[in-house]
Amino acid sequence: MNDYFHYRQDQLCAENVALNDIAQNFGTPCYVYSRAALTDGYRQFAEAFKSREHLICYAVKANSNLAILNVFARLGAGFDIVSGGELSRVLAAGGAANKVVFSGVGKSEAEMRQALEAGILCFNVESAPELDRLNAVAGSMGKVAPISLRVNPDVDAKTHPYISTGLKQNKYGVAYTEALALYLKAAAMPHLRITGMDCHIGSQLTQVSPFIAAAEKILALADQLAAAGIKLEHLDLGGGLGICYDDETPPSIAEYAQAVLGALQGRAEKLIVEPGRVLVGNAGVLLTRIEYLKHGEEKNFAIVDAAMNDLMRPALYDAWHAILPLQKSVAATQSFSVVGPICETGDFIGHERELAVAAGDALAVMSAGAYGMSMSSNYNTRPRAAEVMVDGDAVHLIREREKVAQLYAAEKIIG
Ligand code: LLP
Repeated sequence: MNDYFHYRQDQLCAENVALNDIAQNFGTPCYVYSRAALTDGYRQFAEAFKSREHLICYAVKANSNLAILNVFARLGAGFDIVSGGELSRVLAAGGAANKVVFSGVGKSEAEMRQALEAGILCFNVESAPELDRLNAVAGSMGKVAPISLRVNPDVDAKTHPYISTGLKQNKYGVAYTEALALYLKAAAMPHLRITGMDCHIGSQLTQVSPFIAAAEKILALADQLAAAGIKLEHLDLGGGLGICYDDETPPSIAEYAQAVLGALQGRAEKLIVEPGRVLVGNAGVLLTRIEYLKHGEEKNFAIVDAAMNDLMRPALYDAWHAILPLQKSVAATQSFSVVGPICETGDFIGHERELAVAAGDALAVMSAGAYGMSMSSNYNTRPRAAEVMVDGDAVHLIREREKVAQLYAAEKIIG
């Protein structure tokens, strides 16, 4: 819980709106976001970095709903994208192309063309063959592509292995030891213009030290480049700042910024950061309703209408999300496994949760704003959830619940 999701007279609310009313009016499963929480997170970032020239490029993959992108675009955000699809979303949401950085190890020619056409700020290039391809694509269009090399600093982010990206054995970025030679190669390519250097070491980091270790390696390399005659305009230190799901104690945005600013003291380059989770994670919840309570021989199950297709994080990373009743009760609690209807043992939202609930009650899965809806699927032909944004007293539907017929509309029977 936080300032934006809180109990008021035993009713869990988003800002001024009871979530039970939203569950009733829009159905479940349903993602609910707080506009004030989104705005507040962004403003904290902007405030914390205001002493130097910077650009906050929201990592679109964390939650790519147009309404959310639009809230950030209005606040002045740039965007970190990893596909042509995400670029289309950013532009459809009113984002500025010249504030977009394009990360990812597998950019296709079509994606490069689309991004060059749009006029993005920078390609975060992740390999030598990508440099060759980008140079060729830009040349064929009579353009010059602005580039940064994503350098793999080989720093342990001390997070879940699936979301750790800055180690030598990860697929991301160019090897630290090869980066200088690649910069020299890029400098000689006629359709590339070197503008920066970037790194991203992982997600859900709960300490500042790995960020600083990575920044120091990046700065040392930038100095070597300067000595070789390549001057960078910006340094992009990626995203990765963690949030509190349970009892984690990640640094605050201000503490993180202070450490980063300290490491960059005396440097002229513009700073770019790519936060995702920290801007949206605790700004969203997933509402779900209990279909059945099932009392097994060893365990009690609360079978709910949200499943791993709606929120994949527990199944994929064994991630922990708080589960709260929308209406607080004084009845005695029991321990439940909260599970979905999908035919997979991995289909759970949370195990061993103490809840005082009855069938038909609605629950909120907390901290679900990041990598919830954006990782959802249609597994078991389940339409994706509705999404709603609360703004003070107002409630806006920002994505309709999918209809089953939409799910197979593109399929053909061959007879
Ligand atoms: N920049 C790049 C290049 C990234 O790969 C990522 C995330 C970010 C920025 C944003 O990181 P954030 O600030 O959100 O930590 N699905 C996983 C997280 C995957 C993160 C992948 N990269 C999860 O649900 O925990």
